[in-house]
Amino acid sequence: MKITAVKGFNDILPEDSPKWQFIEKIARNTFHSYGFSEIRIPIVEKTEVFARSIGEATDIVEKEMYSFPDRNDLSLTLRPEGTAVVVRSFVQNAIYAKKPVNKLYYFGPMFRYERPQKGRYRQFHQIGAEIFGAAEPMADAEIMSMIMRFFTEVGLTGLSLQINSLGCDECRKVYKEKLVEYLTGHKENICDNCTRRLKKNPLRFLDCKAASCNELKTNAPSILDSICGACADHFKSVKNYLDALNTPYEINDQMVRGLDYYSRTTFEVTTNMLGAQNAVAAGGRYDKLCEMFSGPKTPAIGFALGVERLILLLDTSKDYERKTKLFIAALGQEARDFSFKLINQLRAKNISCEMTYSDNSLKSQMRRAGKNESQHVLIIGEDEMKSGSAIIRDMSTKEQTSFSLDDITNKIMEYCS
Ligand code: HAM
Repeated sequence: MKITAVKGFNDILPEDSPKWQFIEKIARNTFHSYGFSEIRIPIVEKTEVFARSIGEATDIVEKEMYSFPDRNDLSLTLRPEGTAVVVRSFVQNAIYAKKPVNKLYYFGPMFRYERPQKGRYRQFHQIGAEIFGAAEPMADAEIMSMIMRFFTEVGLTGLSLQINSLGCDECRKVYKEKLVEYLTGHKENICDNCTRRLKKNPLRFLDCKAASCNELKTNAPSILDSICGACADHFKSVKNYLDALNTPYEINDQMVRGLDYYSRTTFEVTTNMLGAQNAVAAGGRYDKLCEMFSGPKTPAIGFALGVERLILLLDTSKDYERKTKLFIAALGQEARDFSFKLINQLRAKNISCEMTYSDNSLKSQMRRAGKNESQHVLIIGEDEMKSGSAIIRDMSTKEQTSFSLDDITNKIMEYCS
């Protein structure tokens, strides 16, 4: 019986994992330099963590969550995103009591029952970061500039930072009325989904991909014309701080995001290289979410980036793999016994090295060294054991150097570093 993986769930194979490690390393370094600490959160949560916070009338909650009853009939859900989980943990563990401002980041798989295609999977991975306890526009600009710096460090250019303000509850109330009025005037042209959501969640119209709705967007009212003075001032300061940090951005007043918890600043980092799945990272402010989880009033802002999408954009000509430094081609029992101890000593010094388990011919061992893409090969046979010296070959330059077997560990360490 041949068993295959679940549709939309992918293996990350050994040849691809160096790219993941590269991205994770840069994320950790960049985030640490901005004062973030890692939080590790569960993959499964009670369904209520997501249902209300993300919004009952969103695609995620309506049709994309992997929810199931456990053996005790408790409804559980595989996390479709990280923010609600981090907020649950922030409140449950009273992280707010530790410092006035807490900066947290997380890595890991998320699950959404979407139609799989290039850049869209049912299990996908996010790297996310959240700042808790800062209402100031400086925090908005800082986190957006951090993500753009991260992309530069990773080697990606040509990405666009799109920003918008969704205002506060009051602004959105005013805007929703204007939007409903506009959409009601074009009722016959909006898709069934938007008609159904017209009362509950009219903003979703701006996210709708249906051709008829798309056409209507051109003349739809702009949320930026409905935001109050305080929200407009906040947005203006965010833009000024982004300018001060030399972080270019574009204003996109139709960006509403697929989750309901946002207020004021929202943003997306987009590319024109991935077709429809053009958002590589996205986020925004969610000043009310902690209270929704019965925590203290805590303004917050964050983002998450899609690792699979980022990997699709990585420079394929670059070599991300960490190669085996040394391969020891050992022939004959005495040389093999000597080499088995030698690789043990070298590994203890963090030199990555390999030898075969069986006493194959030199040709076959050299072939194995080639497959491993080893940078150097040390050749030790019966003659070398007798003469007390061995040859090491640099596989790229083909240069050969002879070493005495005395003190060979230190000599190899020096040679390979
Ligand atoms: P989101 O926009 O739903 O936001 O997802 C963030 C990113 O995850 C997207 O821009 C995309 O790169 C990636 N992504 C989403 N769905 C998929 C999928 N099915 N396959 C592959 N990649 C995907 C959030 O999740 C928010 N929690 C972000 C946030 C953090 N807001 C505040 N803090």
